Amino acid sequence: MPDALDLLARRRSTRIPDLASPAPDAQALATILTLAARVPDHGKLVPFRFIVFAGEASARAGVALEQVAATKTPDMSADQRAIERARFARSPMVIAVVSRAAPHPKIPVWEQELAGGVAAAHLCLAAQGLGYGTNWITEWYAYDEAAKSALGIAPQEKVVGFIHIGTALARAEDRPRPALADIVTYA
Ligand SMILES: Cc1cc2nc3c(=O)[nH]c(=O)nc-3n(C[C@H](O)[C@H](O)[C@H](O)COP(=O)(O)O)c2cc1C
Repeated sequence: MPDALDLLARRRSTRIPDLASPAPDAQALATILTLAARVPDHGKLVPFRFIVFAGEASARAGVALEQVAATKTPDMSADQRAIERARFARSPMVIAVVSRAAPHPKIPVWEQELAGGVAAAHLCLAAQGLGYGTNWITEWYAYDEAAKSALGIAPQEKVVGFIHIGTALARAEDRPRPALADIVTYA
């Protein structure tokens, strides 16, 4: 099977606890982001952007999320606080894929949002092609305005995903995939 098809056939997520250091280095990261940005894009609007979290930035993001969560749930337990604080530190790198889709005279917002989704998918594929593991999540902080603001995401922007990246310690068992008979018809 050609390499590209092999990559698609083997693509799958790695559990976040199994994503260890090292994260991609600067050169690998540049490759991943360059390939992620190379997507179909109606109108060439580039309706997405990336925010890279690693090291101190991940620690700061966790503290910020803990503060937002504690404001909403003042009686939060110490354990829950620790979970929120560790959100971005569970893997050595997190890349937020952010949709900048906005009303446009010709290009529907939906199509702009789809381009952001493709960018996130290609980001995962590029990272996996370089040998890294990935996990695409959203979680509550993708949909909470205070949390988004704390992470540097504007109110008019949407989180496509927080892509956790690292070196896979284990390969998760595959899950059942859709049967073509359930999803394909011939017009
Ligand atoms: C937009 C989007 C958001 C997701 N958010 C979460 C999430 O918050 N938590 C989670 O456990 N999985 C989430 N997932 C699912 C995982 O990324 C992953 O696809 C799945 O767990 C394993 O499937 P795979 O091995 O085919 O990649 C999300 C997937 C997508 C596409």
